[in-house]
Amino acid sequence: MSQRMVVVGSQWGDEGKGKITDYFATRADMVVRYQGGNNAGHTVMFDGNKYSLQSIPSGIFNPATVNVMGNGMVVNPESVVAELQKLHDRGITDYKLFISNRAAMVMPWHIMLDGAYERRKGDAQIGTTQKGIGPAYSDKYSRTGLRIGDLLEPDYFRERLEAALDVKNIELKSLGLEPLDVEEVYNRYMELARQIGPMITDTSDLINEALESDAKVLFEGAQGMMLCIDHGTYPFVTSSSPSAASVPVGAGIAPKWIDTVVGVAKAYCTRVGAGPFPTEIDGELAHEIRERGHEYGTVTGRPRRVGWLDAVVARYTSRLAGITQWAIMLLDVLSGLDKIKICVAYDLDGKEITTPPSTIATLARCKPVYIELDGWKEDISGIRDFDRLPENAKAYIRKIEELTKTPVGMISVGPDRSQTIIVDPALNRF
Ligand code: IMP
Repeated sequence: MSQRMVVVGSQWGDEGKGKITDYFATRADMVVRYQGGNNAGHTVMFDGNKYSLQSIPSGIFNPATVNVMGNGMVVNPESVVAELQKLHDRGITDYKLFISNRAAMVMPWHIMLDGAYERRKGDAQIGTTQKGIGPAYSDKYSRTGLRIGDLLEPDYFRERLEAALDVKNIELKSLGLEPLDVEEVYNRYMELARQIGPMITDTSDLINEALESDAKVLFEGAQGMMLCIDHGTYPFVTSSSPSAASVPVGAGIAPKWIDTVVGVAKAYCTRVGAGPFPTEIDGELAHEIRERGHEYGTVTGRPRRVGWLDAVVARYTSRLAGITQWAIMLLDVLSGLDKIKICVAYDLDGKEITTPPSTIATLARCKPVYIELDGWKEDISGIRDFDRLPENAKAYIRKIEELTKTPVGMISVGPDRSQTIIVDPALNRF
């Protein structure tokens, strides 16, 4: 069995990756984040305690695990320091954390611009988390960005900062925002550098050393495949690709290392922020699922939109991310429903299609084609063995496998680490 596992979100984020990563992180030698930033909200629960992480990898609770924030991330040092402080306040003080010297750095103007761009879009807002993620990635790719490693070379950092602000201040002013003062930003970032400086290193080297010595390495994706900058519901997406295909570039390793890819999918679907969502449901049923599943954003607290499981999306993301096993989350939330629907195709102007169209204009015209399965009444939150699940719950899982041509490796029936059913015993050998 694999010594390298990638955990990817397969829907619109918030699938429960935090729980799955945490489940395997307890045995991993290393946990690596390879994309995104503090726009992610990973909830981890164990021993009755609930923790929320944004940019720090989920292996942080295990003192023996090496946690890595990879070069593919956009890292806000302010947020790293605040997250660490929160962990310290709750007694989590013994951990190993490293940050890539090549990771793009979120600067104050990114956050200001994220807000300003959104406000100017009016009704067409993406509904970003306002953490500056898009503007930070834009600067990275336009080669005007600063990187985490720059903090270790103060003169170079200052040079890059002056060059960036020379242009950014013009943009800030043109949008009616206050320009930033070089001195102030410099001093604040140098202060942050004192706090995170010892964690900054060449993490690609660190990860490759671990891989070469056969360590157990877990790659933790953020967001979900339908928020992928390339394959998601563009432009209502995030600015990176959560796919397992991003791991080699975002961690600085060769593709040959990737074998097991656990695709995390809720037993239904949710989405925060705007954008088309073909299987969205509303009214009493949506309310019931939202309340039972505690479907409110970890980062922003926004109520999540709720819908039926979309097998068109699941098949699409399974292929794109190379998902080898599903982790089906929150199956317990569906207990008690008379009927459960699964979307198996889209009706586009009278024609059935089985892959999502490339534009949201066309996606908005797609009507879900459903099959309906019988529900189950039993409380399943205490079940730990697949065979003990109600027949209709088993049938639901088998239908997901059939429709997506991807086996289900594990099922989550509650938020706690222990509320997990391992279907594929091979996963337990990670
Ligand atoms: P951004 O990543 O802040 O630019 O936001 C772009 C879109 O991605 C918005 O619809 C956000 O709600 C969504 N998004 C970003 N991160 C997450 C996440 O971790 N979970 C769910 N949605 C997310």
